[in-house]
Amino acid sequence: MISEKDLENISSAVSLADAYFSCRPEKPCVIAEDFFRGDAVNVQNEQNAPVPGAAQSDARTITAQTDTLQSPTAVQTVTRTDEPETNNETALQNIARKIAACNRCRLCGGRTNTVPGIGVPNPLVLVIGEGPGADEDAKGEPFVGKAGQLLDKMLAAINLSRHTNCFIANIVKCRPPNNRDPMPDEAEACRSFLDAQIGILKPRLILAVGRIAAQNILNTTTGINKLRGQFFEYRGIPLLPTYHPSALLRNEDLKRPAWEDLKKFRARLEEITGLSFSTPTQTQSGASTQNRNQN
Ligand code: URA
Repeated sequence: MISEKDLENISSAVSLADAYFSCRPEKPCVIAEDFFRGDAVNVQNEQNAPVPGAAQSDARTITAQTDTLQSPTAVQTVTRTDEPETNNETALQNIARKIAACNRCRLCGGRTNTVPGIGVPNPLVLVIGEGPGADEDAKGEPFVGKAGQLLDKMLAAINLSRHTNCFIANIVKCRPPNNRDPMPDEAEACRSFLDAQIGILKPRLILAVGRIAAQNILNTTTGINKLRGQFFEYRGIPLLPTYHPSALLRNEDLKRPAWEDLKKFRARLEEITGLSFSTPTQTQSGASTQNRNQN
């Protein structure tokens, strides 16, 4: 187990996750466990909690900390300003209402709640998952169970959050029974909702988590091991497939490649926006990034 003293000695140019993955090949998940299991997102203003279908608007009061092994440091969030929030919010709520009334496929019969999506209405990033599980079905929000907590930590590692600069949606908006994979006709029936959401949100980048999301969006049967870490385009928007957080929970060996994917994603986001999405432990100087509210 690496000590706090060791961590202090790691150059500030090297992120905690980077350091972790590179310095302990014989037991490659000690720091990553801490990293991903830590309290990565600290929502300081509960009133700003996002609502299904749309989200709160003033994200600036929320800070994220990505490293619980070092003293917490507030990270300036990078939010988008070129997209109007209000119109998007109304349009997203309209889609959420249509989803709630949908009976296009058999999944409507087993649902407790529909799960349209959650996040800011003018996101830089859209995260696409597979479909709701039991927790999500009960709450009507995507990624609220264990996989959701890990997803939040993965996003926080590159200064992204559903509370400030992301929207999270699924391929299907109703829970498949016993968490089985969505069937092709179910994904097809739900597709226009996702496409309508993308049309409103106009994200700068899309992160597709897991095989089902990547294969459906890209209309391919290629496996996730081949798709991950490569950029594709969907409707003119760059899209990167990576592993689903549930897969990382099942197999810790996937954390390293997932972190490589996230760094690639961050680099493209920085290239597109001209802004930094590094957290303080990931910057040369250790200083917070200074680019809030721009893109
Ligand atoms: N897994 C998903 O793909 N989506 C969710 O909303 C929850 C778990």
